[in-house]
Amino acid sequence: MSNRPSGRVSYDNSERIVIVTGGSGGIGWAICEKFAMTNAIVYCFDTQSPPESKLPIHFIHNDVSDESACQASIETVVQQHGGIDVLVNNAAIQPVESFVPLDQLDGELWTKMLAVNVSGYTFMAKHVVRQMKKQNSGVIVNLSSAQAHRTAREVPAYGPTKAANLLQAKQWGIEYGRHGIRVVSVSPGAIDTPLVRASLELQGGEAELANRHPIGRIGKPDEIATAVVWLSSSDASFITAEDLAVDGGLGGLAAFADPYEPID
Ligand SMILES: NC(=O)c1ccc[n+]([C@@H]2O[C@H](COP(=O)([O-])OP(=O)(O)OC[C@H]3O[C@@H](n4cnc5c(N)ncnc54)[C@H](O)[C@@H]3O)[C@@H](O)[C@H]2O)c1
Repeated sequence: MSNRPSGRVSYDNSERIVIVTGGSGGIGWAICEKFAMTNAIVYCFDTQSPPESKLPIHFIHNDVSDESACQASIETVVQQHGGIDVLVNNAAIQPVESFVPLDQLDGELWTKMLAVNVSGYTFMAKHVVRQMKKQNSGVIVNLSSAQAHRTAREVPAYGPTKAANLLQAKQWGIEYGRHGIRVVSVSPGAIDTPLVRASLELQGGEAELANRHPIGRIGKPDEIATAVVWLSSSDASFITAEDLAVDGGLGGLAAFADPYEPID
């Protein structure tokens, strides 16, 4: 650990209205907290209740795979506050049963993953964009994944759905650039959340997973939240239709690179 100063950035999101899907756990909760700590008015859309918190984070029970529910929940936020400044499309699933070769992938499971991970992002963005166009402003951040950019054995469903999130962001970014709306994606490496904990052994265990990242550890939810808050701010005003890897160097490590020594 270095004693050198590391620098610090702070944000003010006062009066901004922010919706975070899947905000009750993992990365989504860290994003809700980070926005709330910078004074935004935060709405968590989730199928599960969020943790207890002193922060003023509003909860709306909302399944993102249900378009009419998304529309109604978004309209509720607009009625209460008159606008939406940021949408973070974060709710996604990777059930452990999906870690199988393609020929053993359950059809209903695939349909469910598509409904949440891909259609959910589209439904939320579609109805939020209608409001953002009226405002001539807004930012949408899609949580994609390092797995959108590279393959892994026995992961036939998750990576392809996350790759869709990249192109959704690019498509919407170019479509609405002249309407004052920016759309970006973030591709995390492995982050310490319930989603990753559930499949840790299937991915070789914690030490092995950490070792695949050149930084030598998996990431923390807060490290993704920081990137999302920056991308949503005016400091990122010329960035749209683009992806940001927040992956501890995972994507820079070529397949033929020398492996690292195992971490004890
Ligand atoms: N954890 C990682 O290592 C990692 C890496 C790359 C990308 N990601 C992406 O980051 C995002 C968050 O991942 P996480 O690890 O925090 O996941 P998580 O499983 O810990 O949390 C997901 C949240 O989404 C909610 N949710 C699930 N289905 C929903 C639905 N139909 N409607 C509304 N909410 C729903 C859950 O209740 C939960 O609160 C996802 O898009 C994931 O693909 C995660």
